[in-house]
Amino acid sequence: MIAQQLRTPVLRRSFRKLYPVAVRGEGVYVWDTDGKRYLDFSGSAAVNFIGHGVREIGDAMAEQARQLEFVHTSQFTTPVAEEFAQELLDFAGAGFAGGAVYFTCGGSESVETALKLARQYQVEIGLSNRHQILSRQQSYHGATLGALAVSGNRKRREIYLPMVREFEHIGIPYCYRCAFECTDSCYNCGQQYAAELERAIEGAEGAAVPSDVAGFIFEPMSGATLGAVAPPPGYLQAIANICQRHDVLLIADEVMTGMGRTGRNFAVEHWGIAPDILVTAKGVSSGYAPLGAVIASKKVADAIAAGSGAFLHGFTYNAHPVSVAAGRAVLRRLRSLNLVHVADSEADGTAGSTLKKALESLRDLDAVGDVRGLGLLWGVEFVADKKTKAPFPPEKNFAGLVGQACFRRGLLVYPMQGCVDGVAGDHLLIAPPAVIAPEQTGWAVEQIRAAIEEST
Ligand SMILES: Cc1ncc(COP(=O)(O)O)c(C=O)c1O
Repeated sequence: MIAQQLRTPVLRRSFRKLYPVAVRGEGVYVWDTDGKRYLDFSGSAAVNFIGHGVREIGDAMAEQARQLEFVHTSQFTTPVAEEFAQELLDFAGAGFAGGAVYFTCGGSESVETALKLARQYQVEIGLSNRHQILSRQQSYHGATLGALAVSGNRKRREIYLPMVREFEHIGIPYCYRCAFECTDSCYNCGQQYAAELERAIEGAEGAAVPSDVAGFIFEPMSGATLGAVAPPPGYLQAIANICQRHDVLLIADEVMTGMGRTGRNFAVEHWGIAPDILVTAKGVSSGYAPLGAVIASKKVADAIAAGSGAFLHGFTYNAHPVSVAAGRAVLRRLRSLNLVHVADSEADGTAGSTLKKALESLRDLDAVGDVRGLGLLWGVEFVADKKTKAPFPPEKNFAGLVGQACFRRGLLVYPMQGCVDGVAGDHLLIAPPAVIAPEQTGWAVEQIRAAIEEST
């Protein structure tokens, strides 16, 4: 049976791991060929938001494929792309009125697109020396070389570093392990981290020399790398002000946090900031088709429209009609079921608040150091010593062990390592579909508790 083979014609993620063969999905569940059922408590990798196996999404894709499967964007636009772009601009809020959307096939392509868009914007407005993209340590923006260059995830970057163009990475606030031992919910240290951005923009020579920084890319909430860490109060507002003052484009990477995942259409709404460019993927199609979107504000779109008139970029599958049809059907579903509200962990009686409460109950375990998150995006961080917050030795692979124990119990979670310093530190990322029922959440958290106890 395929599941029992380590070598098959597919170049898989690992040659050492046996993969079960998935054949069916419905709601929060996925089944393999042996009939084993898995509760998808991580939405695969924070992808699925509307649930698996929704027939109307497949129907919308099939209908589009039957009518028109593909045209090249150098020759045509399509009704589905035009309509969905407007719907996404509206979904992104008032800050994006009059903007424009560039569709891609996923997160990494979207980040690459956003980086080039930021560079071209600066050239169009006459600041052609601006080419640097600043970003943060302990972040992840994608697997392609440009996206990897701005990422701060040590393990995912390490062997590719000789191939990567290095820009500056600034520090990232991480309140559970606050480097400043704050007592004010990290307001103060958030301001210090923001000041670091200003120094990086001004460069070693200070404000007297023109800056070469084109943009700053950040995850409003840290995704996989730190595990659903929210920014301290005032920090993102300070970052946004600094970028605006210095004509540096603010690029919010909402590949993981966008499209309702945190209980808002986009996570930036929690902190009241409007970036110049919003990058999204994953939830935008909920996994039904490869799709990403770069949502550019009017300021950015206007600069190119009124300048050279053409964005110097393109993928063959940019705005693929079948993917875009999937995205449009997903957004309709998300709206008709009011799933953004359902995800809100601060509202009573929602899937988000049930998840928050259930995960918080894990805090009594010795190995659980922190439980954090917003909406339907949560992190559970493990520690060897609760008092000192000392992590487990990385070679123990504690998060991996918990993940495997969950898997045996029919529960999918997203284990990660490296939250402390890029190598040490273990956590689980939890991001279920919004259609999860309270009893399913309860069962899933019981399995996590048992899996942690088994692994300790
Ligand atoms: C914040 C963020 N940006 C970018 C990416 C890259 O997206 P993709 O894997 O779809 O290329 C990811 C993937 O996990 C992500 O979490």
